[in-house]
Amino acid sequence: MPFANTEHRTGLYRQAWSKEAAVERRMMREGNGPKANAAVIRIVEVGPRDGLQNESDVVPTEAKVAFVDALSKSGVAEIEAGSFVSPRAVPQLADSDEVFRRIERLPGVIYSALVPNERGLERARAVGVNKIAVFTAASDLFTQRNINCAIDESIKRFRPVVFGAKRDDMTVRGYVSTVTHCPFEGVVQPSQVLDVVLQLLDLGVDEISLGDTVGKAAPRDIRKLLDEIVPRINRSRLSLHVHDTCGMAVANVLTAWTEYSIEAFDTAAGGIGGCPYAPGASGNVATEDVVYALKASGASLVVDEHKVIAAAREIGKVLNRRLSSRLSQVQTEQTAYEGAA
Ligand code: HMG
Ligand code: MG
Repeated sequence: MPFANTEHRTGLYRQAWSKEAAVERRMMREGNGPKANAAVIRIVEVGPRDGLQNESDVVPTEAKVAFVDALSKSGVAEIEAGSFVSPRAVPQLADSDEVFRRIERLPGVIYSALVPNERGLERARAVGVNKIAVFTAASDLFTQRNINCAIDESIKRFRPVVFGAKRDDMTVRGYVSTVTHCPFEGVVQPSQVLDVVLQLLDLGVDEISLGDTVGKAAPRDIRKLLDEIVPRINRSRLSLHVHDTCGMAVANVLTAWTEYSIEAFDTAAGGIGGCPYAPGASGNVATEDVVYALKASGASLVVDEHKVIAAAREIGKVLNRRLSSRLSQVQTEQTAYEGAA
């Protein structure tokens, strides 16, 4: 049933939230609630896509394949391994078809890709991708620069893409970028984000990723955003995707987890990444730093940060630059969280 996402319209979920979850959230914020969330956190590793799309040099296909294969063994739930966009728009990922043909797909790991249109869906289908992501934003100017159309038009264009993907039993993620700040329009209101989120859910997407594309958000912005979104959308369908331009990204992840019980985070090994159409934006929050921070805060994760660091260091050699993540810069034996007494 592709268009069965109705909980945001029924009001039932909202009611449940307002009665109990709000109390729990306030208790957590005040330090009186459960210290750790029982659920296992899902890490969506976006380094091979978001990370490599913004590099000035094109990374050789074999290095991309090795990066994905190394990350596959680290315990991340999903790897966004490529992007079926126009090669003119993002030449860095023009070889995504070849990457998907060559990677070793381990059971239990999801391998996904960005798809902007039906042409992209065809390419994804041809190489056996079973999860795709359509992407738009909460601000028109960014959407225009990124995918060459306004938000409304992007939703119209996604309709046949989501329909075709669902018909083929693919899972579909919907990205909403610029959820707190737009590089061209400034501050973005949570109501603008909610409007786009609801349109994507009405199309039939399975999950939503909320993107702080420019990396300017601080925890208070994340609270303002999630206060609007979480009462209306089941949390299990939300992922937070933060870039780390202003050094707030780990704090934003911890805020979303501890105060709103968000359990899925998009991260990139080594902190590589950025959007070529978001001037001034830096890399994604680093997978290894997020894993450390969440484990140190009592979260349950199956990701091995040492394997992520090893993968990041290898791709760092190919990129020939210093990685921005904290953990990749310290000795491996010092990077395991040792636990509070
Ligand atoms: P357009 O120019 O409006 O579309 O681009 P078009 O249909 O006129 O196509 C233009 C050319 O691209 C044509 O080639 C098409 O064939 C080709 P030409 O005839 O001129 O030689 N083309 C394609 N080729 C291969 N695969 C395709 C495809 N589609 C068209 N799928 C379009 C519209 C959306 C295609 C373009 O603007 C585009 O590809 N944009 C992608 C931008 C992008 O990838 N941005 C980065 C990802 S978003 C992001 O990073 C944010 C995120 O991380 C979350 C966050 O941080 O907030 C997700
Ligand atoms: Mg991004």
